[in-house]
Amino acid sequence: MKKHTHHKAYGDSTGREPLIDLEIIREWLVSFGKEGHSSEAILNIVVGFGVVAFVVYQCGSLLYRINKREEKQLESKSRQINQKIDITDKICGDENVFSDLHEMVIREKMILYRTPHLAEETTVKNSQIFYEEMKMRRSCRQFSARDVPLKVVQNLLKTAGTSPSVGNLQPWTFCVVVNENIKMMIRKMLEADERDNYVSRKKGAAWVVDVSQLQDTWKRPYITDAPYLLVVCHEIFKNVNNTTERVFHYNQISTSIAVGILLAAIQSAGLSTVVTSPLNAGPDISRILRRPENESVLLLLPLGYAAEDVTVPDLKRKPVEHITKLY
Ligand SMILES: Cc1cc2nc3c(=O)[nH]c(=O)nc-3n(C[C@H](O)[C@H](O)[C@H](O)COP(=O)(O)O)c2cc1C
Repeated sequence: MKKHTHHKAYGDSTGREPLIDLEIIREWLVSFGKEGHSSEAILNIVVGFGVVAFVVYQCGSLLYRINKREEKQLESKSRQINQKIDITDKICGDENVFSDLHEMVIREKMILYRTPHLAEETTVKNSQIFYEEMKMRRSCRQFSARDVPLKVVQNLLKTAGTSPSVGNLQPWTFCVVVNENIKMMIRKMLEADERDNYVSRKKGAAWVVDVSQLQDTWKRPYITDAPYLLVVCHEIFKNVNNTTERVFHYNQISTSIAVGILLAAIQSAGLSTVVTSPLNAGPDISRILRRPENESVLLLLPLGYAAEDVTVPDLKRKPVEHITKLY
């Protein structure tokens, strides 16, 4: 019979109690009438299973902890998103900011305001004359090289600056571009953007437009042809009562009204323009003009005298009955 020595999980030299006393297990197996060799094989299998079970348990608990951590991360993310939605709601429906801003104006000292008292017939005549003048306004996309004095532009912008604005914030900045290089940079940006638009819109269309026609469509020569390019910016943030308010929506409305008054002034001065959307080039134009972070480009207005042979589309206005409801 082979003499077996003690097999312990820890060597005796450590002086610690063995974790598994292999001799006890061997004796237990022998007591079942097994031979020493086969009992050692079974012992190895049992220990092997133990090790596998231990590893499986460790992996399981690791996965469990990872899952828990991910759950927590998801929870905090959804909390953040909800918070963002709260903020977004406030931005969109900012009624509070709206009324706060009005209170700010109403608290100002009051002064007497005198309006011209016109005879009724003069009021009728003036309104008719103004209409006749505005009726002549058309968007012009061809400009003469004739110079316009800077003083005229200043007067036009002073007129735009008389516009009403929410809380009298006057959230507009009119950038007057005369530098030919800057005008060209802005034109190139617009054209690149517009070209992408057209190409992606027309791709695959049943009616394929002629290439030269396509080029005419996305080109913006008037941006550089007019002696001035006005880049209309509006503030998107404002410090009100020591807090930063996002008044984007109302500032857009205020600035658009100022542009309306500016268009009337341009017409009255015998000059021409075309309201031009910055498309996706707004942020790049802002960067070129080094506008501050709290400003955004709203519209572009090339400004000058119309070219002598200018043509415009033959558009019709809706009759007054169609745009009016009398109550
Ligand atoms: C907000 C706004 C954006 C416009 N954007 C462009 C533009 O990017 N390019 C353009 O050629 N005309 C643009 N227009 C001009 C319109 O096409 C033009 O006003 C309209 O066709 C009516 O013509 P009228 O201005 O001659 O009356 C814009 C007008 C507005 C009000």
